[in-house]
Amino acid sequence: MTEATLAHQWWKDAVFYQIYPRSFQDSNGDGRGDIPGIISRLDEIAALGVTALWLSPLYPSPDADNGYDISDYRGIDPRYGTLEDFDRLVAAAKERGIRVVMDLVINHTSDEHPWFQASRRREEPYADYYIWRPPRNLGDDSGDREPPNNWTGFFMGSAWEWDDVRQEFYLHLFDKKQPDLNYHNPAVIEEIKGILKFWLDRGVAGFRCDVISLLYKSSLEDGKPGAIRGLEHYKAQPGTHKILHELRHAVLDPYNAFTVGETVMVTLEEAKDLSDPGRGELDLVFYFDHLEVDRLVARYGPKPFRADTLLRRLTTWQRGLDWNALYLENHDQPRIVSHYGNDRHYWSRSAQMLAVLQLTLRGTPFIYQGQEIGMTNFDFTSLDQINDVESHNIDRLLRRRGVPYSLRWYLIKTASRDNARTPVQWDSSEHAGFTTGQPWLGVNANASWLNYAAQDGDPKSVLNFYRRLIRLRAASPTLRAGGFEPLIADRAVMAYRRTPTAGSTDPGYTVWLNFSDQTQRLKQPWLTSAMSDPEAGPTGAGPVHPPECVVSNTGRRRLDGCLLPWEAMVIRDGTATPWRGDAA
Ligand code: NOJ
Repeated sequence: MTEATLAHQWWKDAVFYQIYPRSFQDSNGDGRGDIPGIISRLDEIAALGVTALWLSPLYPSPDADNGYDISDYRGIDPRYGTLEDFDRLVAAAKERGIRVVMDLVINHTSDEHPWFQASRRREEPYADYYIWRPPRNLGDDSGDREPPNNWTGFFMGSAWEWDDVRQEFYLHLFDKKQPDLNYHNPAVIEEIKGILKFWLDRGVAGFRCDVISLLYKSSLEDGKPGAIRGLEHYKAQPGTHKILHELRHAVLDPYNAFTVGETVMVTLEEAKDLSDPGRGELDLVFYFDHLEVDRLVARYGPKPFRADTLLRRLTTWQRGLDWNALYLENHDQPRIVSHYGNDRHYWSRSAQMLAVLQLTLRGTPFIYQGQEIGMTNFDFTSLDQINDVESHNIDRLLRRRGVPYSLRWYLIKTASRDNARTPVQWDSSEHAGFTTGQPWLGVNANASWLNYAAQDGDPKSVLNFYRRLIRLRAASPTLRAGGFEPLIADRAVMAYRRTPTAGSTDPGYTVWLNFSDQTQRLKQPWLTSAMSDPEAGPTGAGPVHPPECVVSNTGRRRLDGCLLPWEAMVIRDGTATPWRGDAA
């Protein structure tokens, strides 16, 4: 790789922070976060060590899916502020060394977008901007219209909706208010190029590309049986690769813009192709495999967690892709401390252990708002308190099938995307310092003690642990970019090594993690193979500085043959020269 290419890859050294604007910080008392609110919190974000922001959609939207249904790609929803506010945000972030990345939602628009309104009236040039088809049983005199194929959407039910105006069905892989764009139409691709340029000219550094691997529908044949019927006709198709390459070449490259694609149900092979630098499509991909260790399908159907399964999956991706997008939370996933941790009895320790996991892997970390203070899943007590369109659609479907409330409640409580969408808990005042008005979604009751202000000055807090880990990582080429080797794992424990990058003086590290409420004895062969005894010296000549524990969430500095419940330890190899880094 040439030096120029390396200089262009600023995102490899970045720490991203995802903002879900409506829940971040309200500045005007309307109960929704906004851009001035984000600007007012940039110092807190910078203090974490963050160098890039990903902003979930700020565009005008009827909000059927909280902004992922866009009605104007070149505007800012007035509830968030103005384009001038946005420009101020980009400038204020830049002053703090922080880049801004927008969410790009181009698989679908809102049904209230002027393109769709014109398309349903067959007005040119928009008539063919969406995927319209007549009913399958046209001419049938039963009166019932059948959708053109058997595809099901990601929010359950048929992926087709009848439109009375056009007298045809349109495809929507998500909610019926999110019609899919037609990427067989070159005019649509030209529109997208214009939108990208519009934001790049305003100074954004790139895009997080929503469900980008689903853009191109190769055929509209019936789908095979499965949870999402039809997927094989549109997941990571050659047509999508071609469009991504074209966008990269024609628009993104001239701006040296970064892209991370959300790639639903992607396989390693598909992800490799989508993010292969030689092909020039996406820089990074968000895959989901590592978050589904304890689930049957996507976020549904709980099954027991196993650390060895997680390590196996991490290893596949760590070693399979050149560079990973590292995330444990986003606005669609439950909070990680409630998911893989224990948010009741070991809240702080398990949140810190999970921080160690995320921040000692090879790749670029993405931290989701509130994760850095260990925010937990919602504490709502009934389905009425939920806003998420996906949860409501699923509830409706299950209710129609006669599923009792208790089961619906259980399924939705564990899987609802609102788990991660409650307002950020800034302090212990009313509504957690998020708003002076009525918050759009409930604030967790634990905000009285689990909040940013309470943790800011506490050296033992989850927040300060994140800050120290991010500093440690920034100082360590091995942790950012070194090799990854799985060491040992069982149901509860895992250990892996990070090996030095070529030519670096930063040595290797061994990471030990306990994912259980029990103290776990470490078998002697494990310890021997890991060479992790802090008293052992490095091999070779020269003055010896023994291995050293540089991260611990329990205060212990030696393994002593066991890991305490939810304990994390990072042990730096012995070196010939003293190490001057920062320990967490
Ligand atoms: C993925 C987004 O992250 C999610 O929030 C949204 O509902 C779907 N894509 C549809 O845009």
